[in-house]
Amino acid sequence: MKINSHFLDLKESYLFSTVGRKTAEYKSAHPDKDVIRLSIGDVTRPLAPAVIEAMHRAVDDMSHKESFKGYGPDRYCYGYESLIDSIRGSYSRKGILLDRGEIFISDGAKSDLGNILDLFSADNTVLVPDPVYPVYVDTNIMAGRKILFADATEENGFLPMPDFSVDADIIYLCSPNNPTGAAYTREQLGEWVRYALEKDAVLLYDAAYEYFVTDPALARSVYEVDGAKECAIEFCSYSKTAGFTGVRCGYTVVPARLAREGVSLNKLWARRQSTKFNGVSYITQMGAAAVFTEEGERQIRENLDYYRENARLISECLDRLGIRYTGGKNSPYIWMKCPSGMDSWQFFDYLLEHANVVGTPGSGFGRNGEGFFRLTAFGTKENTEEACRRMECLLAHRG
Ligand code: MLT
Repeated sequence: MKINSHFLDLKESYLFSTVGRKTAEYKSAHPDKDVIRLSIGDVTRPLAPAVIEAMHRAVDDMSHKESFKGYGPDRYCYGYESLIDSIRGSYSRKGILLDRGEIFISDGAKSDLGNILDLFSADNTVLVPDPVYPVYVDTNIMAGRKILFADATEENGFLPMPDFSVDADIIYLCSPNNPTGAAYTREQLGEWVRYALEKDAVLLYDAAYEYFVTDPALARSVYEVDGAKECAIEFCSYSKTAGFTGVRCGYTVVPARLAREGVSLNKLWARRQSTKFNGVSYITQMGAAAVFTEEGERQIRENLDYYRENARLISECLDRLGIRYTGGKNSPYIWMKCPSGMDSWQFFDYLLEHANVVGTPGSGFGRNGEGFFRLTAFGTKENTEEACRRMECLLAHRG
């Protein structure tokens, strides 16, 4: 028996597990300290009332033999039509028309971003921005794929553009970006689509934060760009849009026209999902279907505004401190420069020990993240205000 030795090439633990462990160690050594976590992007607002009501109705359905549901419907890989149609509605309001069979319901973007790799040969070369959501890198390391990095730096506004002299087969993009908060315009995305089409590559587009976009120049879906249906798969999630981090539901769009080597990726993905996945629970799907109703959208927008206000508080705090940052406008993440030349983990320790505030060290997202630090706007307003107050006391007099 041989293990998959590529696992040995991974860092010992996943970034957010390391942050969690260090925070827990600090807490157990200082049980009296009130530690504020602005690290992992976990939401704090309760689910919208429309979602809760839909879930209650679904629970009732499950308690009567006439309306009880077992496995989800086969036809759309266990996705219920009412949910799929509500997602189609959300896309059509962005001017994008999708068929039911192009939308696959998942238990969240993270799982599908990893699982999609089943479709591609291990020989493919992967291009990943640096810094980046660690899942893209770690899942490809597990498969032993060659990974190239596209530098996201202050100079390019953390938005790398394609280099046509580099050949890649699989390209990851995340916009609005995790961790930097930077977001591509339609024109910039158009360049990536042109690159993918020219290289016969596939774009894996993570749109988990699209509901934070308010600037009309910025893209909310890769399919706003002509040609994207021939080269891109889009991953979306209810986690940040509707507070589903603990509920688990997302969706992946694999266009019917997307084919490589004459093979439909939509058909391959359907085959993969029907073999390795048994769908998302009926109760969860019914809750998710309420998100894109008129009432549901109004309610989730109130929650999104709450987080936007947190982002504004953090941004203003950094402005007062004279610390440079990106994000916080069309994104729930604020990507700040570590003060006084500290490296990312030094600043993590410094902020934890002296302000009892936890963020995420930028170097955990890649080499170019060194010297940066990510704060999330998903905390409560009270904690965000208090964290800002503590940061201002601590950092006001540092160079
Ligand atoms: C993050 O903090 O980067 C996200 O919450 C991670 C995730 O969505 O898996």
